[in-house]
Amino acid sequence: MYSIDKLLLENKAWAAEKKLDDPEYFERLSHLQTPEFLWIGCSDSRVPANEITGTQPGEIFVHRNIANMVIHTDVNLLSVLEYAVSHLKVKHVIVCGHYGCGGIKAAMTKHDFKQVLNMWLRNIKDVYRLHRDELDSIGDEEKRTDRLTELNVQEQVLHLAKTSIIQRAWQNEQRPQLHGWVYGLKDGFIKPVFQMNSDSHIDSLYEYDDL
Ligand code: CO
Repeated sequence: MYSIDKLLLENKAWAAEKKLDDPEYFERLSHLQTPEFLWIGCSDSRVPANEITGTQPGEIFVHRNIANMVIHTDVNLLSVLEYAVSHLKVKHVIVCGHYGCGGIKAAMTKHDFKQVLNMWLRNIKDVYRLHRDELDSIGDEEKRTDRLTELNVQEQVLHLAKTSIIQRAWQNEQRPQLHGWVYGLKDGFIKPVFQMNSDSHIDSLYEYDDL
């Protein structure tokens, strides 16, 4: 059997089992989506949002890209953010990176990955530059990569806070909380590294005063 056919076969078994467990399951989910969380994670296949947080379909709204980046010109990310915050009214936005991230490692090399990937990884190089003194002082390469992973998550949370989407929701509804987490591929544990709330302050350059 081809691996692609196996996916469809497994899907049939999963759907049948779900329905057996809870006959109303699909009927109920098809009418309503009220997730409390928006997850911005890495596309890495080893970091599935629902599985590592013990949540079910319907509980987490998900956006994933290489190295869980929040880039202010990314229409895809911004559309997901706008919909989750303004329409679904999520209470929490989580940026979850992971140790051993290929995107972070790639950005720390001088390799030419061709222009499109270079352009994406450039954003991670910019995070390195912002924290260059701290990172350059870490001799061990794996520890330096781990620290950049944490600082990258922190920086992406700050990028969220710089959007009018988040600032408007903070001003009007005192939500969502923003969280920066890093998942450990080696032990399965999530480490919270950064958090912001509606009373957090950001560089005033990025603050809107006429929302
Ligand atoms: Co990754």
